[in-house]
Amino acid sequence: MDSWTAPPCGAVALCLLLFGCGDPSLSHGNAGNSATTVGLSTCVDLAEGEALSGIGPDGHAWVTSLDGLRVVDPNGESQSITVRFGSADELVAWTADRAFIVSESQLWDAGPNGSQPFILPDNLGRPRYACGDPDATSGSFVLGTRGLFERRGSAWFRWDIPVDVFEAMEMQHFEGSCGTADEILYLTTTEGALWEVRFGENPFFREIGSIDDAQELAVDSEHGIIRLFLGSLYRYAGGWEHIPFDGGFVMHTDAAGGVLWATVRDKIFRRDRFARWEEIEPDTAFAFIDKVLAYPAGGAWVVEGSRMCHFGHRESVIVDGVRPFERLDQDDSPEQLTIMADPTGAMSLSASIDGRSIPVTGVSGLWTLGGLGSVPAGWHELRLALSSPLGPVERTVPFRVDGEVVIGGNDPTVFYETDIKPIFDMYCAQCHGPSGTQRFFGDYESFVVTAQSALDLIKSREMPPPPLPGPSQGEIGLIETWIQEGMAP
Ligand code: HEC
Repeated sequence: MDSWTAPPCGAVALCLLLFGCGDPSLSHGNAGNSATTVGLSTCVDLAEGEALSGIGPDGHAWVTSLDGLRVVDPNGESQSITVRFGSADELVAWTADRAFIVSESQLWDAGPNGSQPFILPDNLGRPRYACGDPDATSGSFVLGTRGLFERRGSAWFRWDIPVDVFEAMEMQHFEGSCGTADEILYLTTTEGALWEVRFGENPFFREIGSIDDAQELAVDSEHGIIRLFLGSLYRYAGGWEHIPFDGGFVMHTDAAGGVLWATVRDKIFRRDRFARWEEIEPDTAFAFIDKVLAYPAGGAWVVEGSRMCHFGHRESVIVDGVRPFERLDQDDSPEQLTIMADPTGAMSLSASIDGRSIPVTGVSGLWTLGGLGSVPAGWHELRLALSSPLGPVERTVPFRVDGEVVIGGNDPTVFYETDIKPIFDMYCAQCHGPSGTQRFFGDYESFVVTAQSALDLIKSREMPPPPLPGPSQGEIGLIETWIQEGMAP
């Protein structure tokens, strides 16, 4: 409950009227700046040495300085947090009162109740970036000076990324989570390479492109990775796809929850899920905006010099109990969820999981969803549909419950030990086995991570390098089935 705060403007009705109230279904994708809305802001001064380092999923700003932390809610209320370490090198705001912080070569779990370092594997080196909740049994990664590690169950699993690559890597996580809807974690190198790590059912990683001299990068569940280059915005979809915008030379950007923000000198623009840009005319004057950080509940914080200002908007819906793209352990997946919505006036809510409607109880603006006890393993989609006098508001929260997923409902027919290992030994081991000179993936754990790219390279006849004979069609079919069945050991 502490994660919820009242709407940023004192009068809810005023807030509603001033923020884009049109029915989204009436207008179509428009690249132009079709609308201007007045943005009501809440501004907070930053003290000397303070910096906005991250935003929690419902808009709490985490401000770091040399001697501590403070969390500022969207209304501008601050809470100081005492920590045991110095300045934060990297901060992942997880909730209103929990952040994961890299400082002094440790990864810390920090909040009002104190700060503790996480115990990480020795061979990780010094942690540099993190995403996901390192305490959860899955869905989290830590990038260290000696490797990329993924949490699986109670163990940390090392991804076999070449040393020279990850040494120069930065993690492009978003809103604290590691992956997009497609379970892709993006990494970039200081040399400008863009990598993807796919950590879903068929894990693999590869270099996919270049970010060149990106001014900024942003990652969001719906857009994937966004690059700001020479004042223009691009999103990655197999190649860089231009995002139309005619408001000028973009200087800063961020994206969250499918909403894209851009600043041009003193101007703020926002592009909604229907690809319509609107200019937000702030109620406070800016000269030159330094940074914008967006969050999925619908708002953003804008930093200029020594102050930061919050802009909310009418679609603020907070789901307490599951974060977008969170991976929940079957045992602690929530029995019920709390939904809080701004604005609260005269609204009703209906909710469904995977198209099956679920019971809603509560009053306008504060509801409880029950009947979640038996959500099976796998990906699910929570859909919320709110109605208000000003039109519908929809929100989709994909989440995953971990556990035994039986693909196709059948037991696997192809196994690594008996079917796949012999193919590897025959065609790949001389170079990729224990005594080979190329990247090693001669055991189950490392082959699982490489399987999809190995299959792609076999099919495109790049591996094994010609003229060496490669696997037969039948053998390729076995590998395909094995991957589809979930890669049984
Ligand atoms: C004669 C040696 C040789 C054999 C046999 C061979 N490879 Fe390779 N493999 C290489 C070399 C060399 C590279 C690096 C190529 C490059 O960097 O362009 C490579 C790279 C790869 C990569 C990419 C590794 C990375 O770092 O991203 C994969 C995947 C791969 N091989 C799979 C296979 C599979 C699967 C087989 C067996 C079906 C196989 N290779 C057989 C020599 C071999």
